This record gives sequence, structure tokens and C-alpha cells, in this order.
Amino acid sequence: MNYDKKTIRDIDVAGKKILLRCDFNVPHDKATGVIHDDTRIVSTLPTIRYLLDHGAAVILLSHMGRPHGQWKKELSLFSARDHLEKLLGIPVPMTQDVLGPDTKEKCAALQPGQVVLVENLRFRIEEEKNDPDFARELASLADIFVFDAFGAAHRAHASTEGVSHYLPSVAGLLVEKELNFMGKALEDPKRPLVAILGGAKVSDKIGVINSLLQKADTIIIGGGMSYTFQVALGNQIGTSLLDADHVDYAREMIAKAKELGVNLLLPQDNIATKEFSADAEPVLVTPATFPADRMGMDLGPKTIESYSQAIQGAGTVIWNGPMGVFEFPAFAKGTNAVAAAMAQQTDAITIVGGGDSASAVEKSGQSAKFTHISTGGGASLEFLEGLVLPGIACLADK
Ligand code: 3PG
Repeated sequence: MNYDKKTIRDIDVAGKKILLRCDFNVPHDKATGVIHDDTRIVSTLPTIRYLLDHGAAVILLSHMGRPHGQWKKELSLFSARDHLEKLLGIPVPMTQDVLGPDTKEKCAALQPGQVVLVENLRFRIEEEKNDPDFARELASLADIFVFDAFGAAHRAHASTEGVSHYLPSVAGLLVEKELNFMGKALEDPKRPLVAILGGAKVSDKIGVINSLLQKADTIIIGGGMSYTFQVALGNQIGTSLLDADHVDYAREMIAKAKELGVNLLLPQDNIATKEFSADAEPVLVTPATFPADRMGMDLGPKTIESYSQAIQGAGTVIWNGPMGVFEFPAFAKGTNAVAAAMAQQTDAITIVGGGDSASAVEKSGQSAKFTHISTGGGASLEFLEGLVLPGIACLADK
């Protein structure tokens, strides 16, 4: 996939109506609407401001959650709109329908320097189905399509890909930044390239491990998926998470790493408990002494030490997926230690590939010390895997 896409800086937007696809799918309280993490909204501000400052009228599009064509009050974009209004300091009117009379009226009346937000596109099933008539109608609201929803770039929906068939289509500044950092880090990395992969399931990371084995010098494995690798090595894991269908795959990856000379690191010790709970009694275990009635919850101190050392020598570090059950503070040490080790690497390129690891970095208060924190969860995984992202592929090349 070509990452060198035209952006809003390459075109004249003055006096034009822009369909700007953002990803305002932010974690929020379903009852109160309170937003827990506004990173995705804040990250799109440069694009919105650029367009308004250059005389464009901006029609904001986004999804929220997965309502699959049902109108669900708790998935309305109202709270995102209220927050955006505060951040932008200008009124952000919102439509009461999706591509109904209210949308058409508000978009038709829109003047340069003004914005309007269309209600959650996924309230219409045609969005997910990438229905060509729906996409054409959406496109008819504007002159230009700008894609800045990196988090939704792996979806071929009407507002991420469909509209590009009917309008000149370019990248927003967030998408440009994501492509520059993540694309460059993978294509021409400052070496050694250390990739850290965590999270619950091996099955979610199959393509990523395969692809990174070709590129990385060191691959560090942690979190729930590491226990499947331990079983592949013949080690005990007690009642820890096991992806039984992927033990052979893990064995293959271990062999492939050896063959390619990639340093594959697995935990040498873990913190394990009898129950899956925030205050369960923690015990230090090793793969050789793993009690049958305990489950791994976090990395142990020896592992934290060796993973931190591997990170210290890196030219580029890419991280995706937590190292333990980080939502319980007692078992967040491994995840926090990886965040801290990366934050200290001021000479290295440090990239966090979205999702849970990005929230862990935000929580640690060290996000400013990272080179790039991706706004993509599934999208950044597919990007690391080297897959074609429909929302990016459809944009004009430079
Ligand atoms: C995300 O949260 O990863 C994006 O907003 C995409 O959402 P989706 O997985 O529901 O398409």
C-alpha cells in the first residue's frame, strides 16, 4: 500500500464543502455521556482548524459503537459534539437524522468557517454495508472528501471508502501523521527494531507476528498470549489463558524466529493468582514452578528487568497490547514498566499502536515522551500486519 497520499495541504479548500470523516468513537459512560478519553477528538482538531482557517465549510462524519442500523440513544454523538464545541470554541450544530431532511437542510445552509456534525452514521445499516446509493447521497452533500478517521481505516464502509468513488479524496493531518510515523517505522526503521506484543489472544496477533518477524530484530511477547507460547515450549501455565488452537502456530513462530535470527523474548517469571480479581493474592512463579491452580496476571520482576533492557538498546520500539491484566492496578506493573522504559528512550523512535496499550500510556501520564501514539486499535494492528486499509487505499496518491 502506498503511504504517500495527497493531503488537505495539497488541494485548494477555500469556499468548498468538505466531508470530513473522523473517528469520534471514544470511550464514554453510556448513562452520563462523560468521555473517558478524548484523544481521538483532540487528534482531529488540527485538520478541522486547518480547513476552517482556509475558508472551507466542514461536515463532520463519525460512527460511535456498533448499533448495526438501530437508533440507540446511548450511542448518539451528542457527548462528542458537546466536547468538540468546547475544544473548538465555536458552535457545532448536530443533525437529528442521518442523511434525512435535517442533515440535508443543515448541510445545504453551511457557510465557510462553519461546521456541522452528522449523527452516528451506523444508525443507518447502509453505512456498514457500504451501500453505493447511500455513499453517493452522502457525497452529494459536499465537494471534497477528507479522511482523518485512522481508527476506522480498516473498515470499507460508505463514509470511509464508498464516498471516495464520487468525490476527490485526500488525507487529513492525523492520517498523514499516522502514515508518516507508523509507515516509516516499518519500512525503514532505525535499528534495532524492537516490537512488543501483548494482549489476550494469539489469534488476534497471528498476522502481526508473522509480518514483524520479517522486520524486527527483537520481538517481546507478554500478556495473555504469552502463555500459549509457554505451552508451545512445553512449560506449565496452571489455569492461565490458553489459546489451545494456536499452540502449533506459536511453536512455528518460535522456530521461524530462530531461523531468521530474530530475538524472541518470553516471560521468565510471572505474577499469578488463584482468582481473576483485583485483590487476589499474588504469587511469583516461573514457567518451571507454575502451580496448577494459579493463573498468570502480570510479568514478574526478572522479566520486567530483561524487557526493559531490550527496550533500552532499541533504535525503534513499536508496542501493541498490554503485558498483564493492567485494568487491575495490582497487576499493571509489567505494562507500566514497558511504558516507562519506552518513555526513557529519548533517542529512539517510540510508537504505541493504539487500543489498550495507548490507554495505558495515557494513564501513566508519560504520553508526551512518546514519538507517536496511534489513534487506531484494530486499524493499527492491520497496519502493522502490512494489510491494505480501505480508508487509506482509496485516497489520491501524491
Ligand atoms: C475503533 O474503536 O477501533 C474504531 O473506531 C473502529 O470501530 P469498529 O471496530 O467498531 O469498526
